[in-house]
Amino acid sequence: MNILSFESSCDETSAAVLCAAQEEIRILSNVVASQIETHRLYGGVVPEIASRAHSEAISPITYEALERAGVTMADIDLIAVTSHPGLIGALLVAVNFAKSLAERYGIPLVAVDHIKGHVAANYLKTDEGHLLPKPPFLALAVSGGHTAFYLADSYTSMKVVGTTRDDAIGESFDKIGRLIGIPYPAGAGFDALATEGFSLAAGKERPSFKEYKKSAAYKDPEMVLPSPALSDGSGDLSFSGLKTAAMNLLHHYEQTGKELPRALFAARYTYEAVEAVAKTADRLMTQYSPTAFLVAGGVAANSHLRRRLAEIADRHGCRMWIPPLSLCGDNAAMIGAQGYYEYLAGHLADATLNASALDD
Ligand code: KG4
Ligand code: ZN
Repeated sequence: MNILSFESSCDETSAAVLCAAQEEIRILSNVVASQIETHRLYGGVVPEIASRAHSEAISPITYEALERAGVTMADIDLIAVTSHPGLIGALLVAVNFAKSLAERYGIPLVAVDHIKGHVAANYLKTDEGHLLPKPPFLALAVSGGHTAFYLADSYTSMKVVGTTRDDAIGESFDKIGRLIGIPYPAGAGFDALATEGFSLAAGKERPSFKEYKKSAAYKDPEMVLPSPALSDGSGDLSFSGLKTAAMNLLHHYEQTGKELPRALFAARYTYEAVEAVAKTADRLMTQYSPTAFLVAGGVAANSHLRRRLAEIADRHGCRMWIPPLSLCGDNAAMIGAQGYYEYLAGHLADATLNASALDD
C-alpha cells in the first residue's frame, strides 16, 4: 500500500510517500523543510513562528513529495500524521491538513505518536541488507525532548522502562552548546568539537572511551563533571545535575579569566552524557535480555553514542538497529512507517482527531 505521511511537531515540516508491504517498507519520497535558520536567531524554537512556518510549507512540500514519488492522491491508500507529543500549534497544522485530505479523498487516516515514529525509522528499508526488526525489542529514544528506554511487545505498544527525570539529552547538548558558542541546534557541532577533544586528550584519532579515561585531560580536577546515570536500579537518568555542574564549570573559567579548553570540555561533557545512556542500556540489557535493540531520535546521530551503544549491544549478543543520519532527525517517512503498523493493528483515526502536546 502507498502511504502519505506528515510531521510538524517541532521545527521541521515534512511530507513523505512510502510503499509498504509485510516485510518491506520503502521510501518513495521524504521531503523535509527545516526552519532551523529561522529559529537560530533566537537560540531555540519559537512556537508561534514554528506554527506559521508549518502552515506556509505544508502544501508545497506535499505536492513535492507526491511528485518526487511519481504518484497522485489517487494512488494513496493511507494517510498518517504525528498527533503528539510536541508543540501544540505546530502539531495542529499537519493534523488538520491530514484530516482535510483524508476527508476530501476518502482515504483512511491514522494518528502517530512522534516517539514511536522515531523508533519506526528503523523499519524503513534503507539498503538492500536491511532486515526488518521484529518485536519484542528494547528501544531507546534520544531527542531534543526525550531520553527514554522502552520495551516493545508489538510495533504499536511500548512500555517505558527508564526515562530522564528532568532534561532530555538533546536539550542539554543544545543549552550547554549555546553557552560555548555553538549555534542552535548544537548537537552536531558539539559532536564534532568533542571528537577533536577526545583526540587531543588521548593523542590519537577516535580513541575508545577507555583510552580517553586514562588521559591526563580526563583526570584534570577543573574538568570534573557528574554522571547523569542514577544508581537506584530504576533505569532512569537525570541530566539537570550535569547541566548545572557544566554551567558552574564555565562560570569558574569566566571568573578566573582562564581560557576554556572548548574541545576538551565538549569531550568531557559528551563522555558523561553518552556513558550514562550506555550504562543504563547495559543495565537494562542485563535485566531484560533483549535480542533486538532499536535506537532512534535526533541524538542517535551522535557519533560517540552510536559507537558506544554498538559496543554494549555487541557484548550482550543483541542486534542493534540505528537509522542512517538522514533519518535520525524529524521526518515524515518514519511517521509513515509507524502509521503502517497502527493501520494493521486497526487503530484508525477520524475527523475528531486532535493534537496533544503530551506523551501517550
Ligand atoms: O528528534 P529531533 O530531531 O527532534 C525532537 O524530536 O526533539 O532531535 C533534535 C535534537 C536536538 O537537540 C539536536 O541538537 C540533537 O537532536 N542532535 C544531536 C546530533 N544531531 C542532532 N545531538 C548530539 N549529537 C548529534 N550529532
Ligand atoms: Zn523528534
